[in-house]
Amino acid sequence: MTTGESRGASAQGAAPEAIQLGPLRAARKPRYQLTRPVFFVGFMGAGKTSVSRKLARMLGLVSIDVDTYIERREERKVSQIFADEGEAGFRRIEAQVLRELAGREPALIGCGGGVVTTPENRQVLKECGTVVFLYVTADEARGRISDLSTRPLFNEIEEARARNAARLPLYQEVATITVDTAGKSVSTIAREVRQALIKEGTLCALPR
Ligand code: S3P
Repeated sequence: MTTGESRGASAQGAAPEAIQLGPLRAARKPRYQLTRPVFFVGFMGAGKTSVSRKLARMLGLVSIDVDTYIERREERKVSQIFADEGEAGFRRIEAQVLRELAGREPALIGCGGGVVTTPENRQVLKECGTVVFLYVTADEARGRISDLSTRPLFNEIEEARARNAARLPLYQEVATITVDTAGKSVSTIAREVRQALIKEGTLCALPR
């Protein structure tokens, strides 16, 4: 699976840049509606951004990438925020943005892989939305990420394996739906997620 390295907030038919900090709108009449926000979590390279974008296009919904949202708000790349303020500084901003997005109209929200590392964020995820955990091994994730410089916390593979293993129980703690992404295309994963969201009542078809 190619997860797509450029991240963005996108709506059906719109350029990724179309949605910034203003009201969230799908470009085309939505065919489905969300009853609550959907948060995508999982390790770097799991496909959170690609799958949430794909689903947004399939369903006429809005997708937002938390890291892109942060980069636009801060006018700095994530890697620059890490360089300037360290991981703790990045996590503070990430937590603010998560709370902000959780309180807006429901959308498909692709979170950064480390969002689950604070108890406060885990509480927001569990209380405010439906959480889709996309599982990937560090080794498969490495193959999907073409430019590691955009991921300050993905360095040595051994370290990435250990980080992914340490986070696994945290992803599991918040997950409403879990999809193992191994060997699957973005479209296949998106279809699986769509079915699961319909089944558990987060996604409803609108009358035509
Ligand atoms: C991080 C994942 C990144 C980004 C930051 C930290 C992490 O997002 O938020 O580099 O701690 O796993 P992606 O999961 O979208 O790569």
